[in-house]
Amino acid sequence: MTPASLAPITLTVNGRAVQALVEPRTHLADFLREHLHLTGTHLGCEQGVCGACTVVLDGKPQRSCIAYALDCDGSTVTTIEGFDDDVLMEALRTAFSAHHGLQCGFCTPGMLVTARDIVARLGDVPEARIREELSGNLCRCTGYVGIVAAIRAVCAGRRPVAPVGPMRASTVSVPVTQQATLPSTASGPTPQAAAMSKPPTGIATDDGRPMLTERIALTASPDAVWAALADLRAVASCVPGAEITATDGEAVTGRLRVALGPIRAGFAGQGTVTRDEATRSGRLSGRGRDTGSGSSVEGEAHYAVRPAGAGTELEVALSWRLTGSLAQFARTELVQVVARQLLEQFTANLEALIQGNAPAEARPLGLFALLWATVRAWLFR
Ligand code: FES
Ligand code: FES
Repeated sequence: MTPASLAPITLTVNGRAVQALVEPRTHLADFLREHLHLTGTHLGCEQGVCGACTVVLDGKPQRSCIAYALDCDGSTVTTIEGFDDDVLMEALRTAFSAHHGLQCGFCTPGMLVTARDIVARLGDVPEARIREELSGNLCRCTGYVGIVAAIRAVCAGRRPVAPVGPMRASTVSVPVTQQATLPSTASGPTPQAAAMSKPPTGIATDDGRPMLTERIALTASPDAVWAALADLRAVASCVPGAEITATDGEAVTGRLRVALGPIRAGFAGQGTVTRDEATRSGRLSGRGRDTGSGSSVEGEAHYAVRPAGAGTELEVALSWRLTGSLAQFARTELVQVVARQLLEQFTANLEALIQGNAPAEARPLGLFALLWATVRAWLFR
């Protein structure tokens, strides 16, 4: 009998069918290294930043440290070991040696997987494009000169041979007509949010999903907050990028558009909303799909309204699961930072709504804002 915490998965890894039982929280990199002993996939940051763990997942390079093995069920994975007999990879290995593209070699498996994708997907590309494409793979030894020279030497005169899709967040593009944007905190959070939001109450997991719980302090009365939350369209207007397009009883149809630096996604989907007057709590669950990236998201939001001094405490618990190419960002600090910033913006907008003002227009989230928010989250911890 299968223990309740384990789930069956079937993958094709380096051309071999693999069946296994995994915990929902097992990452693909850990599965490859510890279950299949494919230790050529290196783990550096385990945060989706350094690219050392890059493998090819269904034809596209992905960071295996931030993809759940369970989410990869049914997929085809190629690790660096799977390229042993690959002619293009052999040319890259030789060029890396000739151009001193490695020293300690820790980044090299991920570099080679990425390099092979660059050459196969783009063919003969200029150095600047190689550097841009490589920006998701970090090397602390070489200074990149040898790596870039090696790739340039191999791609020179070549035509693209494998029209695989985008490999990095920076190349994910979604044909949405209007990109809503996340809030900017380039100069810190909004004054209201800074004054009212408490530090995050922590990240937990629920059946392997990331879960974020926040307690938001609002100056309005519990009656006013509870009444405001009844107007779904108005509440949706407080969430940057969110829009409810139709309601039918407890069923809602809507969109969530995201523009986070180079990442563009537009999720369209349906959900269900329930409210309990007695406990002044509610639940929104739903699922949506971004046709551009082929990614899907399903999630739940629970909330409860409670008196707190002269104002209100709004507790919100979010849990979600991302699948598809955007799933590689599902576990990162980045997602948690973005979720918190959305809540901050939501808090400020909800206060404005209750006071009869229009929600503030969301502004783009810049790199500095992300760094600032990450440092702030670290300080809170
Ligand atoms: S280990 Fe650094 S991106 Fe995966
Ligand atoms: S060769 Fe050492 S990290 Fe790249």
